[in-house]
Amino acid sequence: MKKHTGAGLVLFPLCNASSLICPMRQLKVKFSRRLCTSREELLLTASPHTTSLSSVKTPNTNTMEDPWQKAYDFAVAVARKAGAEIRKAGESEIRVMTKSSTVDLVTKTDERVEKIIIGSLKEEFGEGTHCFIGEESVSKGEPCILTDKPTWIIDPVDGTTNFVHGFPFVAVSIAFAVNKELEFGVVYSCLEDKMYKARKGKGAFCDDDPIQVSDVKEIKKSIIISEHGTDRSPEKVKKIFSTMQKILCIPVHGLRGSGTAATNMCLVACGSVEAFFEIGIHCWDIAAGAVIVKEAGGILLDVDGGPFDLMSRRMVSANNDVIANRIIKEIEIFPADRDDAPIQKK
Ligand code: IPD
Ligand code: CA
Repeated sequence: MKKHTGAGLVLFPLCNASSLICPMRQLKVKFSRRLCTSREELLLTASPHTTSLSSVKTPNTNTMEDPWQKAYDFAVAVARKAGAEIRKAGESEIRVMTKSSTVDLVTKTDERVEKIIIGSLKEEFGEGTHCFIGEESVSKGEPCILTDKPTWIIDPVDGTTNFVHGFPFVAVSIAFAVNKELEFGVVYSCLEDKMYKARKGKGAFCDDDPIQVSDVKEIKKSIIISEHGTDRSPEKVKKIFSTMQKILCIPVHGLRGSGTAATNMCLVACGSVEAFFEIGIHCWDIAAGAVIVKEAGGILLDVDGGPFDLMSRRMVSANNDVIANRIIKEIEIFPADRDDAPIQKK
């Protein structure tokens, strides 16, 4: 039941998170089958993870050859911890606020979880040595500039609208870039309890199972994901729907949207859909997913067919170039300010 209060605040008690997790566990077994039959039994008996960060063991790797393995392992543990916080927060009332528009939602959980993630990373890697681009920090005025320095790109709660409404796809997204190149990405779909992860050159995984994009090349045999974003200006919405109509009428097998860009990209990576595209997403929504799609054998392009640019707020991710370019033919492009655009003084 939803309770409306004064002062523009709306309180939503989220449905009991544990009742969401159990059915998703069943799904996990079903969807994982074609990738990892041998782990079905394990998945069936899996218990909720309760990783404490201090228990994360850094593997004995040669740091010269593999300098970011420790950071990668730590990111996985932090994402799991953040996901547990989100699940717990979903069991009590959620205080909803808005950002750029009345449909751009944010909650205390988004802010708190980002603080936990960045705080843990700073504690582990030292204040000042690494940079951070976090959705909620940027919305409070922190810069959103990608430099050559080691930089963490974080969306603490991807799918805030889903979180508020109890729609069961919510992800923690953590990526790491050095010299402006993405080194690894971790997406923890925390209500499904699925940990997607990938390191540059080392493949992509869901939990410990390798994942791969689908081999479909015929657009008419594809499922495509897109989202509507949070800008509801009529001209943009018209273009979004016109693009969707054209793609639907190709015809494709279906159009979908999970409500989290990070999860959408993981669905491309594990072959459940052929492509996901959106204009208006931010770097923190897609940075981790970009590594995962690429390492799963997929492709990333700009919506005009040019090279993918993380800060451009436009992206097509697909299983291959044939599907990507067919989608690109239909996309009606509309303007979106870059993430690293200079902040306009009011
Ligand atoms: C949003 C989700 C959504 C996408 C929006 C994003 P948030 O992120 O990823 O799928 O369509 O563009 O802003 O606000 O839930 O972190
Ligand atoms: Ca978010």
